[in-house]
Amino acid sequence: MWPYPKVIAHRGGGTLAPENTLAAMRCGWEHGFAAVEFDVMLSKDGVPVLMHDPEFGRTVAGSGRVADILAVDLQAMDAGKWFSALFVGEHVPLYADVVRFCRQHGIWMNVEIKPTPGAEKETGRVVAEQTQALFADVAVVDALHLPLFSSFSFSALMAAKYAAPTIPRGFLMDKITADWKARLQELAARALHTNHKYLTPEQVREVKNAGYGVFCYTVNSQERAAEILHWGVDAFCTDRLDLIPADF
Ligand code: G3P
Ligand code: MG
Repeated sequence: MWPYPKVIAHRGGGTLAPENTLAAMRCGWEHGFAAVEFDVMLSKDGVPVLMHDPEFGRTVAGSGRVADILAVDLQAMDAGKWFSALFVGEHVPLYADVVRFCRQHGIWMNVEIKPTPGAEKETGRVVAEQTQALFADVAVVDALHLPLFSSFSFSALMAAKYAAPTIPRGFLMDKITADWKARLQELAARALHTNHKYLTPEQVREVKNAGYGVFCYTVNSQERAAEILHWGVDAFCTDRLDLIPADF
């Protein structure tokens, strides 16, 4: 049901490094995390890059939309300075480069497809096609060596399913709604990814009994992690790599 690691580093290195950068992936790995979650968006020319926000201003200085900028120009943008002077010069990475790094270091990936508004289907399709190509050497049954897609966008995940049916999917729901099972069935998803803040033990039981894995974001204390694992949650991502060890 959930063949993947239990504790996953959120956005690479959680609070310890600038999110969605190669430095963040390195940071997670150095803290012993062999599993990572990160966000993938398309550039203007349709190249998958790591990025959370559709607009500049928080992790990358400036204003305007990420989707209006070419990949070559995104790659030249500083994504580390906002975090600390130690990370000045850390650039927006290409998804392909992050996959290469993770595969070299044996890090399992939860690839969150993060479309800019209006680009849902295209983002799902392109990320799925590139992922298929990047993992063409991995057998379909070798789950641990394949990434798991997730997205809040149902249509992005459906497009990913169509383009790369053998790459597994998890559906992200902030709050679990009544149609959760129908959605998971249509996606042929492996897991439900949800906000632990709204989750109840009954919901965990129901989703698990239906044969799906349950993944929670973003759990930042050992007490809460222990509680939801006791409920039967399979895995969670955390920002607090300093508080929750990878082998928790
Ligand atoms: O995939 C779990 C989590 O990352 C979802 O929310 O906004 O942190 O990408 P967000
Ligand atoms: Mg995310």
